[in-house]
Amino acid sequence: MKQLRSIKGTHDILPSESNKWQKLEAIVNEVCEQYGYHEIRNPIFEGTGLFSRSVGEETDIVSKEMYSWEDRDGTSLTLRPELTASVTRSFIQHNLGSQSPIHRLYYIGPLFRRERPQKGRQRQFHQFGIEAFGANNPEQDAEIIAIAWEILSRCGLSDNANLNINSIGSRECRNAYRNALKDYIHPYLNELSETSQHRFNTNPLRILDTKSEKEQAILKDAPKISEYHTQDDSIHFESLIGFLRAMDIPFVINHKLVRGLDYYTRTVFEFNSLKLGAQDALLGGGRYDDLVEALGGKPTPGIGFAAGMERFIIAMEESGLQLKGATPDIYFVCLDERGIASTLNISNKLRRIGLKVVLDPLRRSMKSQLREANKLEAKFALILGETEINDNTVSFKDLEKGIQKTILQSEVINFFDDLTN
Ligand code: HAM
Repeated sequence: MKQLRSIKGTHDILPSESNKWQKLEAIVNEVCEQYGYHEIRNPIFEGTGLFSRSVGEETDIVSKEMYSWEDRDGTSLTLRPELTASVTRSFIQHNLGSQSPIHRLYYIGPLFRRERPQKGRQRQFHQFGIEAFGANNPEQDAEIIAIAWEILSRCGLSDNANLNINSIGSRECRNAYRNALKDYIHPYLNELSETSQHRFNTNPLRILDTKSEKEQAILKDAPKISEYHTQDDSIHFESLIGFLRAMDIPFVINHKLVRGLDYYTRTVFEFNSLKLGAQDALLGGGRYDDLVEALGGKPTPGIGFAAGMERFIIAMEESGLQLKGATPDIYFVCLDERGIASTLNISNKLRRIGLKVVLDPLRRSMKSQLREANKLEAKFALILGETEINDNTVSFKDLEKGIQKTILQSEVINFFDDLTN
C-alpha cells in the first residue's frame, strides 16, 4: 500500500521542534500583553469575497494562491491566506468600534497560500501579527513597529534584521503618483516582463517590487512617491521617522517598498533577515485606513503587521539561540507492581507543587529506567523498589551531583518543597 504522507508544502511540527514554537509564542504573548494588545482567534475559513474585497482581486494572493471551494449550498469559501481581513471582518461584525475608540488585537495561527514551496515558504504556514484600530496618529505606527522590533530583539534577531519603511500616501497621492509612474514607464513597456506589463494596467505600483535587475535599472530614475505626498502624508511620515529615532530603532527609507496587498495606505514596512536566503521577509505590515469602511464598517483607521513564524524559527536557529525543550525535574522509577499506585499518587502531588515528573509505564528494569532518566536530562530520580515499599520510604538520587538519600514516603512533598525553594 502507498505510504500516506503530508501534502506538499505542509509540515508536521514534531515534539523535537514544538518547544521552539512554544518559546516564540511565549515571547509574542508576553510582548503583546505588555503593550496592551489582547488575543483574537478567528475561523480558519471565511467567505471568499472577504479576501477579494480587501487583499484585492489582482494581487498574487487572490488571483492565484487561495484555496477556495464551493460549499454544498453553493457558497464560495476560502482557507484564510492572511488575517488582517478576518480581524477586520470580526471588528465590524461585533461592532467593537462602538465599545472603545481603540482596539489593540494580536493573533497567532495557520494560513494557507498555494505558493511554490521552498525554504521558508510553505502552503500551510503560520503567522503572529497585530492589528490596532482607531488611531490615525503616527505614534500608533511607531508603537506597532516598536512591538515588532521588541519581539525580534527578544528572539535574538534584531542584529541581523533590516527595517525598510515607506509611505505610499493617501488615496489622493497614489492616484496622482500612479499616473506619473505610468507616464515614466510607458516608453519602456516592451522591455518589461509579462508580469510587469500586466501590472502596468492593473496595479502599476507593484512594478516597483520587481526582482529583475533590468527592470530595476529602468526604474532607477522613476518618480518617487514621496514627491506626490499630500502635506498631511508628509507630516505623518516625518513624525513617524522622528519617533523611531527617539526609540533608537534603526531603519532605512525605501521608496520602492509597496507591499503586495491592496489595502495599504500611508505607512508600509518590512523587516528582512540577513540570515535567510531568498525568502528573507520576516515580517511585513502597514496602515490600512480605508479598509474598515471598504468592508462595510464605519470609517476607522487601522495599522498592523504579520510575521512568518517558520522564518522566525529558521532565523532563531541560525542565530544560535538556545531553543532546548524543557527537561523533567524528576524521573520516578518504580520497580515493583505493588508500588505503582503510590508512584502515581506521589507523582501527581509533586506535579501540583510545580514539578515536572515522568514515569515509566513499560515496567522496565532499573538500568533501563535510569538510562532514560539520563537521556531526558532529568535532575533527580525517585526509586520505589521492594525494600522501599516494605519501609514506606522512597530513594532519592540527585542525577547531577550523584547524592543519594532515603526519604519517608509521607515526607516526599515537603522534601522537594524545601529542595526547590
Ligand atoms: P504578508 O507580507 O503577506 O502580509 O505576510 C507577512 C509575513 O508572512 C511575510 O513577511 C512572511 O514572513 C510570512 N509569509 C507569507 N507567506 C508565507 C509563506 N507562503 N510561507 C511562509 N511564510 C510566509 C500579510 O499577511 C498582512 N496581513 C500583514 C499585515 C497585518 N498588514 C497589516 N496588518
